[in-house]
Amino acid sequence: MDNKEIDETRQGEVLERKSSSHTGKKLFLESYGCAMNFSDSEIVASILEKDGFITTRNQEEADVILINTCSIRDKAETTVLNRLKSFKKQKKQNPSLVVGVLGCMAERMKETLLEQQKLVDVVVGPDAYRDLPNLITKVNGGQKAVNVLLSREETYADISPIKLGGNGVTAFVSIMRGCDNMCSFCVVPFTRGRERSRNPLSIVAEVRELFENGYREVTLLGQNVNSYRWNISKKGEILDANIPTTNFAQLLELVAQVNPDMRVRYSTSHPKDMGDDVLISMSKYENICDYIHLPVQSGNSDILKKMNRGYTREWYLNRIAAIKRILPDCFISTDIITGFCGETEQQHQDTVSLIKEVKYEYSYMFFYSERPKTLAERKYEDDIPEDIKKQRLSEIIEIQNKLSLDAYKKCIGKTYRVLIEGISKKSDAELYGRNSQNSVVIFEKGDHKKGEYVNVKINDCTKATLFGEVV
Ligand code: SAH
Ligand code: SF4
Ligand code: F3S
Repeated sequence: MDNKEIDETRQGEVLERKSSSHTGKKLFLESYGCAMNFSDSEIVASILEKDGFITTRNQEEADVILINTCSIRDKAETTVLNRLKSFKKQKKQNPSLVVGVLGCMAERMKETLLEQQKLVDVVVGPDAYRDLPNLITKVNGGQKAVNVLLSREETYADISPIKLGGNGVTAFVSIMRGCDNMCSFCVVPFTRGRERSRNPLSIVAEVRELFENGYREVTLLGQNVNSYRWNISKKGEILDANIPTTNFAQLLELVAQVNPDMRVRYSTSHPKDMGDDVLISMSKYENICDYIHLPVQSGNSDILKKMNRGYTREWYLNRIAAIKRILPDCFISTDIITGFCGETEQQHQDTVSLIKEVKYEYSYMFFYSERPKTLAERKYEDDIPEDIKKQRLSEIIEIQNKLSLDAYKKCIGKTYRVLIEGISKKSDAELYGRNSQNSVVIFEKGDHKKGEYVNVKINDCTKATLFGEVV
């Protein structure tokens, strides 16, 4: 982790399929934001490949450029806007080039993007990707094309995602879409619509196929995976007596049973819905990883109430105690926002004390960025000056860095089973992988290769990496 704003969202990665036999129109696809967006881009590639497209890494040769966008903080949107402006020159040289925006900025920014700044030809929201071939044809016919309709049903369950530029070992699998939680700071319920879960049979089938294709780890994705439910109503009633019901704890077990060599992770859990049942399922299967991301956002109950998070500091600490009791080797990470509306110095210190009490192994930390339409924007004043927000952020980053280093130092001397993901960035003679706790481990290559499991004894560390040797 660097000593600056730590951001789990990724910045503009270009996605390309390694090999393809098509000779069709060329698609350049770039993704911003969270894992959900990267997973969606694989669905987009699948839909467009069926329509005759091939993906390219070379922006210059593209017939269609699509940017999958993120709205979570102001900075994420500014980055995308600047990127879109950079295509203006290419469009002048090649007037038939189609530029489009996908994802979370679609609904919010469609007018600005299409009419005011005339930066794009097509705008497509996260639930409308099946309509992409249609919309691109419309643009080729000289019109602007928009579909930002949000759906209550769409899960793309039947679409087999095309893995783009990954490591061939770890994969994301979407298990639900949207979010109903309405945390007052968060734009996601507006950009991605209502929460809905995907058929467990299609999830298990996708995981099985991934295993057969050499993948050895899946991360099940949703904004709040603990509220995953199939054939169960929001009130907990069975919808169809002829079909089995599945909750998240059960889904985890179904996926873990695909193969003991297929590791299972998930993201993200919501503390208000994190029951002991999930922890017990995790304890039963070796291949469900000992790692939980449990975003707290703030350590002060009044701020949590204003954030509409649905839990108190005490409830959250009780969930942490349950994790430490049921899964004693589990690593825990969190998300924190500093400088939320009205946050006093004392309330900020409650966040500091909570971090110290839980002793997270990692944290993703942000200063508050007001988002249009959210409850916080309508109801509370964004009254903490930016320099205070940033000062509080630096304070917690410094504390977390120290906690991460302490946690990693405790790993020295221990041996972990590591799934190899590839060659280390720093040296061709070394490999990197992760242990069950999600820590990156680096070790000498020897005869090992990616996709294998090895036991590595740790002999050194930094605050973000473990170093060791295969034993
Ligand atoms: N569904 C996940 C979070 C998705 S967004 C969950 O509930 O845990 C990822 C993180 O971005 C959030 O946990 C929060 O810490 C941060 N975030 C969301 N909205 C933000 C905002 N308006 N300003 C700053 N950080 C924000
Ligand atoms: Fe946003 Fe809250 Fe939903 Fe997470 S749970 S996506 S923070 S509204
Ligand atoms: Fe960003 Fe949308 Fe994900 S706002 S964080 S890409 S759900």
